[in-house]
Amino acid sequence: MSTPTSFKPLTRRSAWKALTAHHKKIKDVHLRDLFAEDPKRGQRFTAEGSGLFLDYSKNRITDETLQTLFQLAEESGLAARREAMFTGEKINLTEGRAVLHVALRAPRDATILVDGKNVVPEVHAVLDRMSEFAERVRSGKWKGHTGKRIRNIVNIGIGGSDLGPVMAYEALRHYSERGLTFRFVSNVDGIDFVEATHDLNPAETLFIVSSKTFTTLETMTNAGSARDWLLAGLGGETKAVAKHFVAVSTNAEKVSAFGIDTANMFGFWDWVGGRYSMDSAIGLSTMLAIGPDGFRELLAGFHEMDEHFRTAPLERNLPVLMGLLTIWNTEFLGAETVAVLPYEQYLKRFPAYLQQLTMESNGKHVTLDGSTVDYQTCPIFWGEPGTNGQHSFYQLIHQGTRLIPCDFIAFAHALTPLGRHHDMLMANVLAQAEALAFGKTAEQVQAEGTELALVPHRVFAGNRPSNTILADKLTPAALGRLVALYEHSVFVQGVIWNINSFDQWGVELGKALAQRIIPELESPTPPRLKHDSSTNNLIKRYRKMKGA
Ligand code: F6P
Repeated sequence: MSTPTSFKPLTRRSAWKALTAHHKKIKDVHLRDLFAEDPKRGQRFTAEGSGLFLDYSKNRITDETLQTLFQLAEESGLAARREAMFTGEKINLTEGRAVLHVALRAPRDATILVDGKNVVPEVHAVLDRMSEFAERVRSGKWKGHTGKRIRNIVNIGIGGSDLGPVMAYEALRHYSERGLTFRFVSNVDGIDFVEATHDLNPAETLFIVSSKTFTTLETMTNAGSARDWLLAGLGGETKAVAKHFVAVSTNAEKVSAFGIDTANMFGFWDWVGGRYSMDSAIGLSTMLAIGPDGFRELLAGFHEMDEHFRTAPLERNLPVLMGLLTIWNTEFLGAETVAVLPYEQYLKRFPAYLQQLTMESNGKHVTLDGSTVDYQTCPIFWGEPGTNGQHSFYQLIHQGTRLIPCDFIAFAHALTPLGRHHDMLMANVLAQAEALAFGKTAEQVQAEGTELALVPHRVFAGNRPSNTILADKLTPAALGRLVALYEHSVFVQGVIWNINSFDQWGVELGKALAQRIIPELESPTPPRLKHDSSTNNLIKRYRKMKGA
């Protein structure tokens, strides 16, 4: 591991100290006062870039807060770190890798060097092969083993090899080929596979085994069951596998050991992190659903946001603003979570997708040089589409004791307008942000003639921060811009915290322990257990319950 560029520890940077002092000054200021003092606040604290409009005025900030946050970004070396990422430096220090998801959406004529080699031609070569394959499947030219055309696509993968594909499929369903059925299998719980395939005809089914490493327990177990299911349905002829399985991976050796012809493999590279891979060949199911042109539109949207992030000044830079506001809310206002609330039913899996992107990236406790941090890192991201959440957990956001910053996401146009639905949806998203910010005072409640004893129950303190992200409509390009916005916001936060946003060692321990426990559960004779007394006891009880 090479030595990271060193900056002063975060809490010793002068902007951090200034923010600490500034917070003391403004911590009791209410959004009501901030809006009353500046009638233009709702226009001023907005920014627009790459087709997205961000209203961040309902955050508990002043001009001074913002300027000091920009100073913090500068003192943290944001510009240099961003450039290092875009130019292929090995900024993933613990794994010695470049971090180049931006190369996946670079135009054909771009040049991005990794170890002196331009990676852009390879990216486009894979995209071209994917396009050719997608056309053959979508047109029915690609036939299954029995000569029938493919009607069902099952993506098998987990984490970044699942969440991006399933989120993008759901998000872009409006544009998808409705003659094809798409399913996504991730969990090692066999129910996932059984339910995904129970009504499918093997002769018409294509499996995409998506795994960067091609070693992941869940994916390899599901891929094995898929092969058994296919062969059982097609009379056991192993050569059927070639017509019904393709692989997306960086590991050609393992793909071929599994029995998939590497001619049917779509590759990517170690400089693409799993959670940053939905626009690599991992997006093959997305391309099959929306077609190669739609997929290129998605990539173009990503690229537009990349350019915006790379070139827009800090004060107009959407990912920078969102990243810094998360720092402010987390470090100074003590927020522990961020709720992501899309008012767009097609984005129902977007919060789940963001959970991996944000928390696997920034859920870290040491800085790049291995010192333990003395501040919080990644908040917990969660969410549900509106308006459904309004009738369940919004109560806590409005009147609970915790501060929960919200990202509201909405689109001006419905993809399939239906009566008055869209205006109602939009009225709700705007109302929620307004209610959270301004609340309702005891005087207002009383003035409505409320019984005195009920007044405290009906008071809304307000002063709850939110961002509102507005876009025209949910197109493939808009989705690309939105995902890239969060990718880069995560990057900005990682730079401020001086952590490695691109490794994920925290997932390893549980994986290794499971490998040790599997034979203990399956052993025909009682195993000699050497765990703690709780784990030993649970293993024994499970064995007894299953009749081992
Ligand atoms: O367990 C975490 C993880 O390594 C993720 O980072 C990754 O997206 C997922 O597992 C799946 O990995 P793979 O694509 O190699 O199967």
